[in-house]
Amino acid sequence: MQLYLCAMRIDIITVLPQLLESPLSHSIMQRAQSKGLLEVQVHNLRQWAVNEYGQVDDYQYGGGAGMVMLCEPLAKAIEHLQNEREYDEIIYVTPDGKTLNQKTANALSLKENLLIICGHYKGIDERIRQHYITKEISIGDYVLSGGELAAAVLVDAIGRLLPGVLNDETSALFDSFQDGILAPPVYTRPADFRGWKVPDILLSGDPKKIEDWRYDQALQRTQERRPDLLEE
Ligand code: ADE
Repeated sequence: MQLYLCAMRIDIITVLPQLLESPLSHSIMQRAQSKGLLEVQVHNLRQWAVNEYGQVDDYQYGGGAGMVMLCEPLAKAIEHLQNEREYDEIIYVTPDGKTLNQKTANALSLKENLLIICGHYKGIDERIRQHYITKEISIGDYVLSGGELAAAVLVDAIGRLLPGVLNDETSALFDSFQDGILAPPVYTRPADFRGWKVPDILLSGDPKKIEDWRYDQALQRTQERRPDLLEE
């Protein structure tokens, strides 16, 4: 029997909880939660709205298009959750955050309690960023309609790294980026599909040769597609 004692808890604050339901309730994320290795709780920010109409945003000072998420609902939501547990990081997902990479996912997978805030509209009042947020993460240089999909990406990237989540524990170790380079090409049956052949070496049964070939292929692929990774 295997025992995994390091379960992680992730809370997410959002105005659109439905957007997070599907990505977090299938496949590997579902397995992580049903095995008790990951607990994800999604909280609707409107519970802390400033009035009975469910208002959580307002016009921005100084004018300009787009609403800004109010301080009060966010501060109350964060403080309510902080009363229950201490967070290792309070993360705001935003296009102007630090771009997510495998190194950050690895580091976050070692934490116990994470709180993720999803922005909408023009974003959240700057004072919330200054007083509560400990990390700001972007999932790429493009703008999404809201932070929910970014939060789902982040939870997936972290959740699959938790010990015991992946069936074959070693497989995350061979992911692209895990050792700073891209993954090598992979093949499955048949060995000959319409005359397109699997490289002979993979059929050789020689583990050392296969390992060397994979490493060479990974390096070559990285050189061609992402030379910046080799410079790092
Ligand atoms: N919210 C909107 N766009 C985003 C992005 N690219 N990354 C993280 N959060 C976002």
